[in-house]
Amino acid sequence: MSVEARILSEISEEHYSSGEDISRKLNISRSAVWKHIVKLRQQGYEIEAAPRHGYRLVRRPDKLLPVEIIPQLKTEKVGGRLVYLEETGSTADEARELIGRGTLEGTVVIAEKQLSGRGRMGRQWLTPPGEAIAISVVLYSGIAPTQAPLLSLSTAVAAARAVSAVTGIEPQLKWPNDIYYGGRKLGGVLVEMSAELDRIKWIIDSIGLNVNNRFSGTPLEGKATSIYEATGARVSRTSLLVALLQELDRVWSQAVSGGGLEPYRVEFERLDMLQGKTVSVKTTDGAISGTAAGINTDGRLLLRGSDDNITELFSGEASIVAQM
Ligand code: BTN
Repeated sequence: MSVEARILSEISEEHYSSGEDISRKLNISRSAVWKHIVKLRQQGYEIEAAPRHGYRLVRRPDKLLPVEIIPQLKTEKVGGRLVYLEETGSTADEARELIGRGTLEGTVVIAEKQLSGRGRMGRQWLTPPGEAIAISVVLYSGIAPTQAPLLSLSTAVAAARAVSAVTGIEPQLKWPNDIYYGGRKLGGVLVEMSAELDRIKWIIDSIGLNVNNRFSGTPLEGKATSIYEATGARVSRTSLLVALLQELDRVWSQAVSGGGLEPYRVEFERLDMLQGKTVSVKTTDGAISGTAAGINTDGRLLLRGSDDNITELFSGEASIVAQM
């Protein structure tokens, strides 16, 4: 744990902690304590310093700071390195640059705001400052390229599990990896990778989640939603991010332990909002319609045609066809 994280665990909102006590417990000088307090203030912590009383935490910033996240993480791989950015173009681009510099597997890039966030199919992804979760996780080893679609389904399941655990609401999933609530988009997953025929060199597993965003009155009203809009309450983004990293770590260890991702596929089917619906899927070969009939063991969408034949789709953009 960093010295700043340890200082934060020593000071509280309820009472003052003397500089002398902190310096003794952390085995650092009182002037070193003060220097770290200044650094914490620079990160947005409001800390009162009262002569003869000591320090008191007045307010924590609503930011996804590593100093808050690290002490709560109990992961094996994911989050071994956290790269925190107030603002960036896209966390996925940052992750790619870090891979070029040989960053550790499990590195997570976190941004408060993205200027050119992107989604699947070349879409734009909005990340206004301080309202959402936008992360990219770097993975190198363990899975065959054929498992990549399952990894992205599993990432969506991990996000749904984290949302349920922290907020009590149960999102639905839309193949291949969208997170929905009440028919509106709550989040999405973007998996990018570099692979040879039988070996993945790297994967960037990215997630965008709308947490405290407000869409009502914006052009996205009716299409997008957030946890705040779904529950009426603001949620701690830190708690949600910790739960998400914990779940992603489980996916990762399940994938590399040879245990396979089948349990995630099964859970995806349970949360599948397309199941049994008439859907139209835009693919690179044109649009295809049918009744959604689940996901096969490779992560492909099964579509039952009017002739009862099943088509397996590897990728595409699915939408439910309104029934007259
Ligand atoms: C989609 O639904 O199309 C996927 C959205 C993925 C958005 C995330 S936010 C973090 C990461 N950085 C990006 O630019 N995109 C992904």
